[in-house]
Amino acid sequence: MAEYVDAFVTAYDRFWAPYPERMGEAWLRLHARVAPGSELSLLDVGCGTGIVAARFAAAGYRVVGVDVSEAMIARARERLAGTDAVLIAADAAEFEVPRTCAFAVSTYDVLNHVGDIDRVRSYLRCVHRAVAPGGWFGFDMSTTKGLLADVPPVARQDGTVSVEVARGPLDGDRRPLHVTGELRTDDGRTAPFTTTITNTAHPVADVLSALADAGWTTSHVAAIDDLLTPVPDPEALPRVAVLARRD
Ligand SMILES: C[S@@+](CC[C@H](N)C(=O)[O-])C[C@H]1O[C@@H](n2cnc3c(N)ncnc32)[C@H](O)[C@@H]1O
Repeated sequence: MAEYVDAFVTAYDRFWAPYPERMGEAWLRLHARVAPGSELSLLDVGCGTGIVAARFAAAGYRVVGVDVSEAMIARARERLAGTDAVLIAADAAEFEVPRTCAFAVSTYDVLNHVGDIDRVRSYLRCVHRAVAPGGWFGFDMSTTKGLLADVPPVARQDGTVSVEVARGPLDGDRRPLHVTGELRTDDGRTAPFTTTITNTAHPVADVLSALADAGWTTSHVAAIDDLLTPVPDPEALPRVAVLARRD
């Protein structure tokens, strides 16, 4: 899959890092609260450039990261160099890991990236197999409200990287995000890139039902800035976090 292409990786780290940085802190605090004394091991599915995984590694966790994009995984390898992290280029709906983990996370709408509900089911089953009994899984997802929202196109420039991001029209339950940009390399050349990232909207209730079918017990659905407190109406928010546990 070539959505997260080479030059885009640099743009991702430059412009999209604040959210995973924040979520890395939030997932860490959450895990300490729900599973005090747990083994310190993390599976990061759709780990991207490894921003969340690196935060956990710095806190002493043994990390396994999975991402379908070779370019993102390559950057994660650089970021996690010197740790014992295992980074695997694989599809979230079809992966195996060398060791189970006590906590799994997926951050920044990985679930929406995975595709239709059958693929989401496979993804949730794969994560279930990769988490040790008694372990936890936290992920965020854009809701239908979040994906329907009309966000104006954004253009950003920072030194050597520029990007333009525009949402395309909704196509059924799928919404494309068009990203174009340019990266100026050290030797003065420019590398243009263009990619389309497709997100699929899933009703939260469908995801919770797929979680249960995959063997998870949902703990609660929360707002992303307060992971411990259940929200009564998840569909009213643009993005939510889901916390689940396996027996
Ligand atoms: C918005 S990025 C988030 C990356 C990272 N979790 C973070 O928070 O910085 C979404 C990531 O999901 C990955 N991804 C998309 N579809 C995937 C799939 N089917 N299997 C595994 N990873 C996938 C992309 O390659 C990308 O790295």
